[in-house]
Amino acid sequence: MIQLIRGFKDILQPEAGLWQHIEKEARKLFEIHGYQEIRLPILEKTELFARSIGETTDIVEKEMYTFTDRGGDTLTLRPEATASVVRAYIQHKLSGTEPVRKFYTIGPMFRRERPQKGRYRQFYQIDVEAFGIASPYIDAQMILMLATLMERLGVTGISAHINSLGCPDCRPRYRETLTAFIEARKEQLCEDCLRRKDKNPLRVLDCKSESCRKAMAEAPELLDELCAPCAEHFAVVRRELDRRSLAYKVDKRLVRGLDYYTRTAFELQTDMLGAQSSVAGGGRYDGLVKALGGPDIPAIGFAIGFDRLVEVIAQTRPPEEARPEVFFIPLGEKAMEKAFDFCMQLAEKKIAAEADYSGRSLKALMKRADRLAAPRVVILGETELQKGLATVKTMASGEQEDIPLENLVERLSLP
Ligand code: HAM
Repeated sequence: MIQLIRGFKDILQPEAGLWQHIEKEARKLFEIHGYQEIRLPILEKTELFARSIGETTDIVEKEMYTFTDRGGDTLTLRPEATASVVRAYIQHKLSGTEPVRKFYTIGPMFRRERPQKGRYRQFYQIDVEAFGIASPYIDAQMILMLATLMERLGVTGISAHINSLGCPDCRPRYRETLTAFIEARKEQLCEDCLRRKDKNPLRVLDCKSESCRKAMAEAPELLDELCAPCAEHFAVVRRELDRRSLAYKVDKRLVRGLDYYTRTAFELQTDMLGAQSSVAGGGRYDGLVKALGGPDIPAIGFAIGFDRLVEVIAQTRPPEEARPEVFFIPLGEKAMEKAFDFCMQLAEKKIAAEADYSGRSLKALMKRADRLAAPRVVILGETELQKGLATVKTMASGEQEDIPLENLVERLSLP
């Protein structure tokens, strides 16, 4: 038997119902806030990701699904959506008439990480991006919108972490201080950090290895060394979150795994998924549009790990199997035709009805009705049909009544 690829998965019912529910709530909320859907390709030129996410990030160094296609182009299955949204924004000159553009996009991403709970090689993101707004109000709006979505979905056990990663004015200065600090402790670093300390010293702060954590315990923090405009920006973001009583933690070690960030960075974290703590992550990336060849336009965004969000919700409220509201048991050919008609009429009235056309016995079909957990069962027996009647059984009470066929749809429309 051919099995699916490691790190990939099928999403079956009843879980798929939960995916739909989340997606519906997300779309509704984003659209009220002026975000519009954008649909993008899954394959892009490799260079797009290398130049945006950063050559020395884990994603670009070792996790991308990259191949040469038959025409000789080097292509990559997108590991995230931001780079593609930026590419589309530049390519279609969306900044021209109205630089403020707000988008969301939902779909699969690919990273060849080691699969484990909450970590897959094909996973899904609900991605949101806003272009053309430098003001910290949009930072606060995004974080609050994310928190509102969690609230609407009834998510518990999640906390918001925020930090500022500075700008091209203050970060290089801090980088120097940090590099000197790291150099003095390089014997204690793990292999990964030794390799990335020169090109990407901030990542050392984020390393999970015990020895790196110890070595970096007293490291200087970027948040304490921001330039005045960055500090002011962060203060306004905090003030707006405070004004709306959002609980959050200022997390000076939050650096994110992608290189394009500037200023505000944020994550929603949980301890419900073992080692995979981040359910959503994002931040400002004011230099990226320009770096990819577009105009100098600020931007900010976030992505929710769809798979992780589903898992967090399912842990507290397991999704339920969808069930028909009415289940028809037709006994005989004539009855089947009637049951078919009734199902179609009920569907018109938005009532989920199903019929069994297998021709099995009443006893077998009552068992199936139990399995499906339909609250009402309609038995169309031969003698009843001849009298123009159907038997409606309410499963919870066991009550049974005969209803004239012409009143049946109306009767089933009532609670
Ligand atoms: P990211 O932190 O790399 O950010 O990913 C965002 C979210 O995707 C993570 O918080 C996590 O929930 C989920 N995720 C990442 N990798 C996996 C995986 N292997 N399996 C399951 N879930 C995963 C970005 O991708 C940025 N593009 C976010 C952003 C948008 N920043 C600005 N705009």
